[in-house]
Order: sequence, then C-alpha cells, then structure tokens
Amino acid sequence: MMSPTPSQDQLETWDRTHYWHAFTQMEEYEPLIIERAEGVWLYDIKGRRLLDGASSMWCNVHGHNHPVMNKAIEKQLHRVCHATSLGMSCDVTIELSKRLIDVTPGGLEHVFFSSDGSSANEVALKAAFQYWRQCDTPQPQKTKYLAFGQAYHGDTLGAASVGGIGKFHDIFQPLLFEVIRTASPDVRRLPPGVTGEAAAQYFLDEVETVLQANADELAAIVIEPLVQGAAGMAMQPLGFVRGLRQLATQYNVLLIVDEVATGFGRTGSMFACDSEQISPDFLTLGKGLTGGYLPMAATLTSNKIWRTFLGDAASGRALYHGHTYSGNPLSAAAAMACLDLFEAEQTLEQLPAKIEHLGDRLSTLAEHPHVINARQRGMVVALDLVADKQTGQAFGPEQRVGQRLAAEALNRGVWLRARPDMAYTLPPLAISHDEIDLLMDAMAAGIDAATS
Ligand SMILES: Cc1ncc(COP(=O)(O)O)c(C=O)c1O
Repeated sequence: MMSPTPSQDQLETWDRTHYWHAFTQMEEYEPLIIERAEGVWLYDIKGRRLLDGASSMWCNVHGHNHPVMNKAIEKQLHRVCHATSLGMSCDVTIELSKRLIDVTPGGLEHVFFSSDGSSANEVALKAAFQYWRQCDTPQPQKTKYLAFGQAYHGDTLGAASVGGIGKFHDIFQPLLFEVIRTASPDVRRLPPGVTGEAAAQYFLDEVETVLQANADELAAIVIEPLVQGAAGMAMQPLGFVRGLRQLATQYNVLLIVDEVATGFGRTGSMFACDSEQISPDFLTLGKGLTGGYLPMAATLTSNKIWRTFLGDAASGRALYHGHTYSGNPLSAAAAMACLDLFEAEQTLEQLPAKIEHLGDRLSTLAEHPHVINARQRGMVVALDLVADKQTGQAFGPEQRVGQRLAAEALNRGVWLRARPDMAYTLPPLAISHDEIDLLMDAMAAGIDAATS
C-alpha cells in the first residue's frame, strides 16, 4: 500500500525530529523544504520560489530539472542502475573514465570512482601513502601530509585530518592523524606592502620553508586551488598553485589538488588547474561532476603513480579501497550528460560575460559602509561584513549579521547559505544576467537589513 502524502505540518515536524541535517544545529533549525526545482529556482512546500544562490552547495551546474540531464538518467534507468566496480565494469562508466581523462589536465590517465568528495580525497591520501612504499625507490618514511590553514577536504577522518577548520574537527583531534600545516594562502592575510605580483611568491616562500624542513617525510601536499570555500571563500593569488606544483616536484612530494568545489567551471575555467596551467599527481572531483544530480566523485592520477599499483595478486600492490557505489552507472550517465551540456550550451564560453556582470554588481556592494574584502574568483563572489569599516571592528557574534542577511535574502526570494560575518554566492553556471541582478539585489538588501 502507498503511504498517504504527508501534510505540510507533518513534513515540518518530521523534518525537525527525524531528519538530522548536515552541519546544522537542530535546536535552531527552521525547516526549509524543497519539493521541486527548475533552472536556478527552488520551490518549497509553502509555494515560495527561491533562487539557488549556492548551487545546492557547489553542485548545480546547468540548472535543476534540465531535460537533457533528466533524459540521460532516465535512459540509463532502463538499462542498468548499478554494476559494482569490484572486478566488474559498466559501459557508461568506462565512457565517463575516458571522457574525464580527455577534459582534465594532460598527464592524468586513470580514474578511481567514489560517491562523495571526502572519499575522493581519502583515496588520494591513501594512494599517495602507498605509492611511496611501492615505487621504484621506496621511501616508506614519507608518511605525512602538508596541508593549509583553514583547509576543508571533507568530514571522513582522513579528510578531516588534512582539514584545518578547528570548529569542525577539533573535537575529533584524538582520532585524526598528525599533519604538517602551513598558513592559508589567503590574500586577506598579506602583510602591508606585499601586493599584486609579489603575493604568490610571498606564500610560496612560506611553503618552501616548511618543505625544506620536512620534505623527507612528506608523502603529499594537499590543496584546494584558487578558493578555499569552507574557509570563508579565502582566495589565493594567481600563480600560487602553479608555483606549488613546481615546489612539489622540486622537493619530491606528490601534489593532491582537491577540485571537489572548484571543478566544472566554477572559477571560470573547466578546472582551476587549467587557469594555473598545471597537472597534479592526484586530482579529486565531486559535486559538479554530475551537474548536481547524483552522488559521484572521482580521484584521477598519472601513469607514474598507477603503474606502481600493478603486479600479480600475490604482490599486494592493489589499492585495497572501494565504495559500494563506486562508478555507479546512473551517476555516470548524469556526468556524461553534464559534460555534453558543457559543449552543447557552450557553458564555459558564456561565463566571461556572467563573471563580469557579477563583478560589476559586487563592486557596487564593495562601496557599502559595512563591507570589506569584496572578492571574486569566476562564479564565486564573497564579502566580509564589519561594524566599522575604518577600524575594521567586527560585529559581535550575538548580532548574527550573516544569518540576518540570509533571512532577508530569503524574504526576497533568494537562498544564500548563512555564514557569520560574511556573505557569498556561487550560483549555477546557467544563471542568466537578469537572474544575477535579482540575486545581487537580494544580497544588497540583506546587507542593509543586517547592518542597519
Ligand atoms: C574542497 C572540498 N573538498 C571536499 C569536500 C567534501 O565533499 P563531500 O561533502 O562530497 O564529501 C568539499 C565539500 O564541501 C569541498 O568543498
């Protein structure tokens, strides 16, 4: 028997009591329940239409309910919904592997699939570790990782270990492995006098100092390139990741580039690696990989790494790691459709005009008496809110300015994820110019409401 459709009240009650939400203080949670979506718009059960100002957390690319995405998933639904990756394969997942090799930076030749970004990073961390034990000249002392301040690579324990956001992971410290950490390459952290051209070198010098002391025991460096999202949209100077690639090679340390958030057009090029013109030893992807439709993540690596995992069954060289839904065909079909749409809709070609328009609207907000550090990297914009712009005095946490800003935006039909003391947006790449105006109007109104 079909269960009866629950009422709005039932849904809200069950949402508060049974559905334990991610990164949410459930005591304060106010249900916001989406029942359908179209393009950049989310529709909730109260009939409100809300612009998806965070692309459903960096995921949505071509818009919700896109007919091409739907059709591809439906087609696959009638073929096969799941085939294991353990010693078996599936045509659409094979095609996706080849397609990913074609669109990602040269030198990456092999794809390991998982279901979420954290797992994709776990795979890279473990494979890097194992590489040093079984490469031609083994260096088993290389067991540590160099990670950045305020980094976020996910919430599983390995990913959390390389993460650097105390609020999320400090309580789990006894469970995490030790990591060598260097400060975030956040342009807001530059000392006075270090500007423009010198910024990348300033941060690279910091990294090199750490490498000089620790390279012998470092398996890999792990970085979110160009933008550290969870850090509060901390942006890096162009050229930093490129220099980091050179340092990693020079000091014989592997480079893991986590593009779970930045991948698939978010920063203006297909991958942040493209604008930095680098190829990492490991590239991790997630979120936008399926256009925001189905869970899937991937860890890509080079021949140099992959061949050290080859040998007969007795060699013990296989990567003993896997996830039940690794390479799921429905997700693979969604990912293929997402890549098709990049071509058919010329998604990347449309971006410069949208990025410019977002930038124009941001520069107006930058003039606001309570806004500092207005910043943009491609289709990500962010700004910080202060009580006093001259002295830089912060708002007290009790003023909850970020939350009040998001509440006002919601009243105006825009969903922005609330953050203390800041505002950001990263809309689906498919957003139109008019929709960018609606989005930025709501952000402006939110800033006024929260700071007056
Ligand atoms: C840069 C980065 N890496 C990894 C992750 C973790 O991905 P997931 O939430 O799919 O495990 C995230 C999620 O926000 C992320 O932003």
